[in-house]
Amino acid sequence: MHLSVLVFVSVLSGSSFALDNGLMRTPPMGWLAWERFRCDIDCAHDPKNCISENLFMDMADRLSEDGWRELGYVYVNIDDCWSSKQRDDQGRLQADPKRFPGGIHKLARYMHDRGLKLGIYGDMGTHTCGGYPGTTLDKIQLDAQTFADWEVDMFKFDGCYSNASVQEEGYPLMSKALNATGRPIGYSCSWPAYQGGLPPKVNYTQLGQICNLWRNYGDIQDSWSSVLNIADWFFENQDVLGPAAGPGRWNDPDMLIIGDFGLSVDQSRSQMALWAILAAPLFMSNDLRTISGEARSILQNKMVIGINQDPMGVQGRRIVKEKSGIEVFWRPLSGDASALVFFSRRTDMPYRYQTSLSKLNYTTGSYKAFDVFTNSAMVLKDSADFVVSVNPTGVVMWYISAPARLNVRQYFSSDRMQGSAYRLDKDNAIPRVFF
Ligand code: GLA
Repeated sequence: MHLSVLVFVSVLSGSSFALDNGLMRTPPMGWLAWERFRCDIDCAHDPKNCISENLFMDMADRLSEDGWRELGYVYVNIDDCWSSKQRDDQGRLQADPKRFPGGIHKLARYMHDRGLKLGIYGDMGTHTCGGYPGTTLDKIQLDAQTFADWEVDMFKFDGCYSNASVQEEGYPLMSKALNATGRPIGYSCSWPAYQGGLPPKVNYTQLGQICNLWRNYGDIQDSWSSVLNIADWFFENQDVLGPAAGPGRWNDPDMLIIGDFGLSVDQSRSQMALWAILAAPLFMSNDLRTISGEARSILQNKMVIGINQDPMGVQGRRIVKEKSGIEVFWRPLSGDASALVFFSRRTDMPYRYQTSLSKLNYTTGSYKAFDVFTNSAMVLKDSADFVVSVNPTGVVMWYISAPARLNVRQYFSSDRMQGSAYRLDKDNAIPRVFF
């Protein structure tokens, strides 16, 4: 009896080795200050854009009033340069009093009142990357408790000004300290990014047990070359990184820069599509007060978000790398569905790429393909060749429904079978979540 209960419990918990805080079963979504607003603390000259409580309240207003929150973008995350250069007289971190006169607790309340969540930033070392007070080993419990007291919902733990052995001790310790506060706090670890992102230095099994997400690689910048460099690294290392991801534990290729200055419309679609294939956290770092309609419609695309947020939480992979510069990415989704992305590295003109679903390893059947950026749909047999036209540095992204089983529906009249008809099984429909 005892044994069977034990076996049952261990099977349940063994199904996923995620950090046991129940959080982030799908990749977290929201807004993060760093890439767009950096360490601008010059509120005298730049009151709208400096790192201050006003900036975070402005973004919260936009998230809750412009349709973002309903799509899942609920985190408003403070990054570096929020704190005072000194801890308080009890050794606690404190917000810069000029730029955050209301304090962090009040800011958290502001988020919660609007159905949003607040994230904050710290550093496992002597200083943050921007030179603000870090969290040395002796300060871990105090800082975790301070964040919990402030009702913070997520914590990004950076790794500047420390070393491998301090990190090895500190990152697991912070995980325990956050859990011990009793407040659910999503935990984002920059640890692997400071250790090259790959085994043997990085232990992804352990990371999945202590962190909800982790930065594996360098910082994103506002340019296409940065997006491409990051995407290439993640797909080149997909065999190592893919198995690390799952509900509650995600690889983080860094922020979405859609809506900033560096990406064309096609490149913006590419970042969105590839981040969805990667099951990446979707933290926008842009100015939601002035974002263009085009960028907004890419970031608010329900089908791409639905693919990113698929409950199965399997990270997708690159399955084809053509000499022509076309690459194909695939992600399995729940309900026997999947996503395909056709991406062009070319720099000349739209390229007509010909293939078929069976060439992309799909099993026999009839599928529906929904183009997520044009909202068009078509029925495709696995064996039928098709052509997609892919713009330079752009993508075509498809949601592919489960194969329609060709069901024989029988018609009876009296006792005699009158005939049969094939129909598309209901698996072949678009999930309701997309409407
Ligand atoms: C590091 C991190 C960035 C950002 C900055 C802040 O570079 O990787 O994401 O947090 O520090 O200084």
